[in-house]
Amino acid sequence: MSLLAPSILSADFSNLAQQIRLVEMADADWIHCDVMDGHFVPNITFGPLVIQAVRKITKLPLDVHLMISDPDKYLETFAEAGADHLIVHPEAAVHLNRTISRIKELGLKAGIALNPSTPVESLVYVAEYIDQVLIMSVNPGFGNQKFIPNSFRKIEETVKLRSRYNSKFLIEVDGGINKETIKSVLQAGCDVFIAGSSIFKADNITAEATELKNILRRSKGIIV
Ligand code: DX5
Ligand code: ZN
Repeated sequence: MSLLAPSILSADFSNLAQQIRLVEMADADWIHCDVMDGHFVPNITFGPLVIQAVRKITKLPLDVHLMISDPDKYLETFAEAGADHLIVHPEAAVHLNRTISRIKELGLKAGIALNPSTPVESLVYVAEYIDQVLIMSVNPGFGNQKFIPNSFRKIEETVKLRSRYNSKFLIEVDGGINKETIKSVLQAGCDVFIAGSSIFKADNITAEATELKNILRRSKGIIV
């Protein structure tokens, strides 16, 4: 599977409905929403109110990346706001198994995000319960950073771990994805490609997202 998930972090929030429409026109698959609390990461973005607003704008699945301390406190709120997937960082969720169970009980997909220095082995005892693994290919907190090269190795190791534990989770990559980096990341075995600044800071948002989608389609032989 190869899906494109534009990250609204780099979108123009004064016209979010139009910005989302532009990536829908490019056949984007999910909308990635970066929630930051200024505590777990050194930046503050938005919370459930914006998720609720985005929910009204689009029918696409909302892939909500929680870069917040103690996510357990807010799982229900984000579920009510309209999130479809909740992704947490193991460092922020002290009792990770419980957090995952709670997300699943709420009827949502559960994901784990690995920071650049967090080992793939952190997945060993959760692999069978999760729907997604998000590999951070930059340090979380900001858009428009440079892709960290050893993320390739990490994606490959995650692919191996997935088959070792007979899991079915999707592997997402988040950070520094553009027309240049996406091809090698695809080869490494990634399923979901999150891209913020390369799409939303482009002169033509729909054209840029379409190019990324076409690279993914070509790899599957859908177009030549
Ligand atoms: C960073 C966020 C990313 C961010 C990626 O902490 O998790 O989702 O939007 O931005 P780009 O694609 O600009 O690297
Ligand atoms: Zn993200």
